[in-house]
Amino acid sequence: MRDIVKELKQKKERARISGGLKRQEAQHAKGKLTARERIEVLADKDSFVEYDMFVEHRSTDFGMEKNKIPGDGVVTGNCKINGRPVLIYSQDFTAYGGSLSEAHAEKICKILDQAMKLGIPVVGLNDSGGARIQEGVASLGGYAEVFQRNVLASGFIPQISVIMGPSAGGAVYSPAITDFILMVRDSSYMFVTGPDVVKTVTHETVTAEELGGATTHTKKSGVADLAFDDDITVLEQTRRLLDFLPLSNKEKPPFRITKDPINRKSVNLDTLIPENANNPYNMKELITTIVDEDDFFELQPDYAQNIIIGFATVAGYSVGIVANQPMVLAGCLDIDSSRKAARFVRFCDCFNIPIITCVDVPGFLPGTAQEYNGIIKHGAKLLYAYAEATVPKITLITRKAYGGAYDVMASKHLRGDINYAWPSAEIAVMGAKGAVEIIFRGSTDKEIEKQTQEYQDKFANPFVAASRGYLDDIITPHNTREKISLALELLKSKKLTNPKKKHGNIPL
Ligand code: HXC
Repeated sequence: MRDIVKELKQKKERARISGGLKRQEAQHAKGKLTARERIEVLADKDSFVEYDMFVEHRSTDFGMEKNKIPGDGVVTGNCKINGRPVLIYSQDFTAYGGSLSEAHAEKICKILDQAMKLGIPVVGLNDSGGARIQEGVASLGGYAEVFQRNVLASGFIPQISVIMGPSAGGAVYSPAITDFILMVRDSSYMFVTGPDVVKTVTHETVTAEELGGATTHTKKSGVADLAFDDDITVLEQTRRLLDFLPLSNKEKPPFRITKDPINRKSVNLDTLIPENANNPYNMKELITTIVDEDDFFELQPDYAQNIIIGFATVAGYSVGIVANQPMVLAGCLDIDSSRKAARFVRFCDCFNIPIITCVDVPGFLPGTAQEYNGIIKHGAKLLYAYAEATVPKITLITRKAYGGAYDVMASKHLRGDINYAWPSAEIAVMGAKGAVEIIFRGSTDKEIEKQTQEYQDKFANPFVAASRGYLDDIITPHNTREKISLALELLKSKKLTNPKKKHGNIPL
């Protein structure tokens, strides 16, 4: 018996060494942590319970039967993150470059299957050379098994992908299906085909970093939600992100006790809107003022900056915030901002997270670039997402709410539960000048000017919408936090279901 215990200890030690000290040093030299070191940062202290340490690949080609590393390039198990259970996998680049074999895929699938049974989130730490080249189609099959589970888990449990090294080829599609992608600057990249293939096919010369680095995906493509400078920061921020989320769609998001009084008056909001309606202001000031303790976890801050999305708590309740940003493109909706916000609204709706929408939108961005690239379908995504959402929806119109964009941004007509406006709100079909130029086409400049003023006086206020009940109240800016807090409290018991169907057909 004593020998078996000794053997067990030795086997575990062997598994922990994985690809060996030299390869671990190489990992450190690149500024990266090893798979197990990453888990230590991500998980609560001593909470990680490892599975499948002794799993080995079954390949016999290319001499692989003599080259076995226990664990087979991925460390899996369960842990606690801020006291709540999470299942994790962490690819181990020191073992076959973290490449995915059949056995490696089975370990990840076991995590996903268990997460579905238990109703708890999955965090995947990705650092992999892709399909295990020696295994060929068995590896491709393994990927597809993972993808299938990612899809079935989507909307049922939160799934977070942290990209901490290479993620190339079809391998990028598992992270793409998950809810959030976080990357590490200068050491992670994601692309469907690498720089060499790009060069051969399109004759473009591009580095891996330019093609699929963190900056590319957080600024240009919008594929990733956030990027951080190093492994430790990205893992700490992953812990923070999880704090806003429920364990599964069967639960409410966690409630966080706050010392920030719900009736805290915010006089800075009374002067937030500039005198001149064409001047911008920073919508983030409104957001950080109304949330608990200024704590706003923004997602995609560098992509489609004309819309802001992110998580916060208000009066202790976890909320998703969507807000037009007048400082960028005057806050209008375009293709990228519609897609960005639509996916976020759908995430919140999947996971019972109330949505607060702050509106200052002059309309959809005009132009051939938008029309040719399908603003009609992309704008419809956001409309669809809001209309479909059954979670509590609280809307605040701070200034402009024009045209179709008024409808889209969680209006009363799309089942907004509590719709407020500030006295500075302007709700109309279109801006005064444009409207008058159409109605009074051919009139003199003087007449146009007079009619513009009249249109402005009549519609550039919240009263017409309020008189129809499209707004529940017009509130003073300094009371906004209290009003929203009370609305969240009220809406706790909201119950609303959509007609039963297999699934809708969102305009993709
Ligand atoms: C087996 C692999 C591997 C792979 C890397 N290794 N990728 N082993 N299968 N896919 C091994 C290397 O042999 C090496 O082993 C160790 O991992 C580290 O690799 P290096 O090349 O020394 O590291 P580095 O210079 O940092 O380069 C990393 C890399 C490069 C950029 C990822 O290794 C690389 O280009 N790998 C191949 C990537 C690839 O083409 N994958 C298949 C993509 S197709 P030793 O023993 O020397 O330490 C795909 C399809 C998926 O994934 C489709 C899903 C639907």
